[in-house]
Amino acid sequence: MHNSERTQLRRKLRAARNALIPTEQQLAAQDIASQLAAVPAVKTAGSLAFYLSNDGEVSLSEFSASLLAGASSPRLALPVLHPFCRGHLLFLHYHQHTAMTENRFGIPEPSLDCTAVVPAHQLDVILMPLVGFDKDGNRLGMGGGFYDRTLANRHNWPASPRLIGIAHDCQQVDALPVAAWDVPLDAIVTPSQIIVPKDS
Ligand SMILES: Nc1ncnc2c1ncn2[C@@H]1O[C@H](COP(=O)(O)OP(=O)(O)OP(=O)(O)O)[C@@H](O)[C@H]1O
Ligand SMILES: [Mg+2]
Repeated sequence: MHNSERTQLRRKLRAARNALIPTEQQLAAQDIASQLAAVPAVKTAGSLAFYLSNDGEVSLSEFSASLLAGASSPRLALPVLHPFCRGHLLFLHYHQHTAMTENRFGIPEPSLDCTAVVPAHQLDVILMPLVGFDKDGNRLGMGGGFYDRTLANRHNWPASPRLIGIAHDCQQVDALPVAAWDVPLDAIVTPSQIIVPKDS
């Protein structure tokens, strides 16, 4: 596993998704919403974390809006940069009136509120953004290691959230270079397919 290989791959895959035109992004957001509505773990989730899209990522706004409009929405949460545990994420409860703040990457996140914290081990599903993925569930992120650190101990938790990567089809590669700390995905959902790795 070479770092330069990961850096090059990130550059290529980020350029591909940033090249999608607004109507393609709009279509992807709609298709992802309908794909996710058919995923069993999503249908039964009592609590679900998602993300606000950035850098050409698939938008989950159609999906989250449809959940919030429904009668039986799971409890929704968004990731927040941990205020003192460097490199880690916290998940905060999110609803239509949640006060938002821009973090240091320019991504909006719920303003810190201790009473809104949803411990990661209590989440049923985490929808994770990614830069690249392969059919075995390997994930290449933006390079901060945030999700990897936050989920590193999941095997010791009473129950592990189901980790579902969300991606455009152009983010798939044959085989990703994997590092020891990379947390694999249980499934990947794209606008056109739902991929469940063999050992999940
Ligand atoms: N569990 C961990 N403990 C300590 N450091 C870690 C851990 N996981 C990842 N890191 C560090 O984080 C850095 C970035 O990791 P990596 O390249 O896998 O990021 P990524 O998966 O692309 O990012 P992200 O998870 O934020 O989407 C690496 O240098 C790695 O050493
Ligand atoms: Mg990683």
